Amino acid sequence: MSVLKGKRILLGVTAGIAAYKTAWLVRLLVKADAEVRVVMTPAAKDFVTPLTLSTLSKNEVYSSFTNEEDENAQWNNHVELGLWADYLLIAPATANTLAKMATGVCDNLLLAVYLSAKCPVLYAPAMDLDMYKHPSTQNTFDTLNGFGNIQIPAAHGELASGLVGQGRMAEPEEIVSFLEEYISQGLPLKGKRVLITAGPTYEAIDPVRFVGNHSSGLMGYKIAERAAALGAEVTLVSGPSAIQLENKRVNLIRVVSAAEMFDAVQSHYAKIDIGIFAAAVADYRPIDPAQEKIKKTGDSLDIKLEKTQDILGWAGSQKKQQYLVGFALETQNELDNAKKKLEKKNLDLIILNSLRDEGAGFKSKTNKVTFIDKNGAVLPFDLKDKAAVAVDILDYIIKQQ
Ligand code: CTP
Repeated sequence: MSVLKGKRILLGVTAGIAAYKTAWLVRLLVKADAEVRVVMTPAAKDFVTPLTLSTLSKNEVYSSFTNEEDENAQWNNHVELGLWADYLLIAPATANTLAKMATGVCDNLLLAVYLSAKCPVLYAPAMDLDMYKHPSTQNTFDTLNGFGNIQIPAAHGELASGLVGQGRMAEPEEIVSFLEEYISQGLPLKGKRVLITAGPTYEAIDPVRFVGNHSSGLMGYKIAERAAALGAEVTLVSGPSAIQLENKRVNLIRVVSAAEMFDAVQSHYAKIDIGIFAAAVADYRPIDPAQEKIKKTGDSLDIKLEKTQDILGWAGSQKKQQYLVGFALETQNELDNAKKKLEKKNLDLIILNSLRDEGAGFKSKTNKVTFIDKNGAVLPFDLKDKAAVAVDILDYIIKQQ
C-alpha cells in the first residue's frame, strides 16, 4: 500500500509542454489512492484540457477565481483549497510561475492558492536548458528552497526545443516516488531539539549607552525558521534584533548582554541535539557599568573592558551528544583561523564568512560561506540569500546525523 493512500494532493499545473504528462501523473496518484484536485493556470489549458484532468481526478478542475461561463458562478476559494491540501505539488512548474512564487506575485488562482497554502509545497521545474541555467532562475530556486519549498530535480534529456540538457520535468513515476519518499521519511528534524544564538549583544556602559556591533540577527533567525520548518523543536536565543519571526513554533528568548545569553544557553544546553551559534557576541564588556548616566566632564573618557564568557567555547567544553556549529567572521588567513577556532572550541562544523567577500557578513541580506567540518572537509558556497544559506546549513547537518 502506498503512503499516498488517503492523502490530499493538490496538483498545480502551469503552462509548459510537460503539462501533457500530468494526465498520467494524476492517474498514478489516483491509483495510489490519493485524493487529487487540480488547479491550472489559465495558459496551462492550452497544453492539456481541464476535462481530461477532471475526468482522471474525479474532481472539478479550477483555473480562475470564478467560472465566467456560468451565470450562477461561485467564487473559487483559494484559502479553502490551500487548507484542504496535505501537499501542494506544482508540476510542471515553469520559470514564469516559479519567479512569481519567489516574489509573491499573485495574478492567478494557483498563485493565490500557493500563497495561502499551509502544507508542504513541492515543485517540479520544467523548462529549456538555458532558462534552467540562467542565474535568475537559479536565484529563484534558492529563494523558493529558502522558503521551505521542496524542489523535485529536473532531469537531463531531450527538451521540446530539440536541445539536450537539464530542464526536463521529472517523469510522473519519478514525481510519485519522490512524493512517497518525502511522506514516508517525514520531517528530517522531527523530535530533534535545536538551540540557536543570534544577533548582537549590548554591553552596558551606563543606563543609556552600550558597547555593541552591527549584527542584524538575520542569519540566525533564518536558521531558526528553517529548522522549525524541518520539524525541529527550536529555541532561539536572540540579542537585540528588529527581525520578526515568521514561524510561531520557534521559542524565542530575548536577551541583551553576553551574560544573559550565556544564562539562557546554559539552561537549555544539556537537552539539545544541535547547537548553532550564529550570535555576534561582544568579546569584551565594561568592567563596572555606571549606575547613573555618565556626564561629559573631561576631554577624554576611559572605559575599562573585561572579557565576556566565550559561550560557544563553554558549549564545546561540555559537549556530549550535541552537534555543535559555530561561525567565524575573518578578515585574513580565513581558512587557517577558522580551522583553529573549530579545534579550540571543539566544534563539529564551522561556517566561515570572509569580510573580503562582497555581500557576506552580518549586515547584509546575503551571505557567502565556506563550511569546514571536523574531518577537514572544506565546502565553499556561492553568494546566496541568507534563507538559502540556512537551507544549506541544515541540509548539511541533517546528512551528518
Ligand atoms: N561566540 C560565543 N561567545 C563569545 C564569542 C563568540 O558564543 N563570547 C561564538 C560566536 O557565536 C561564533 C563563534 O563563537 O559562533 C566565533 O566567534 P568569534 O568572535 O569569531 O571568535 P573568537 O573566539 O571570539 O575569536 P576572535 O574574535 O579573536 O576572532
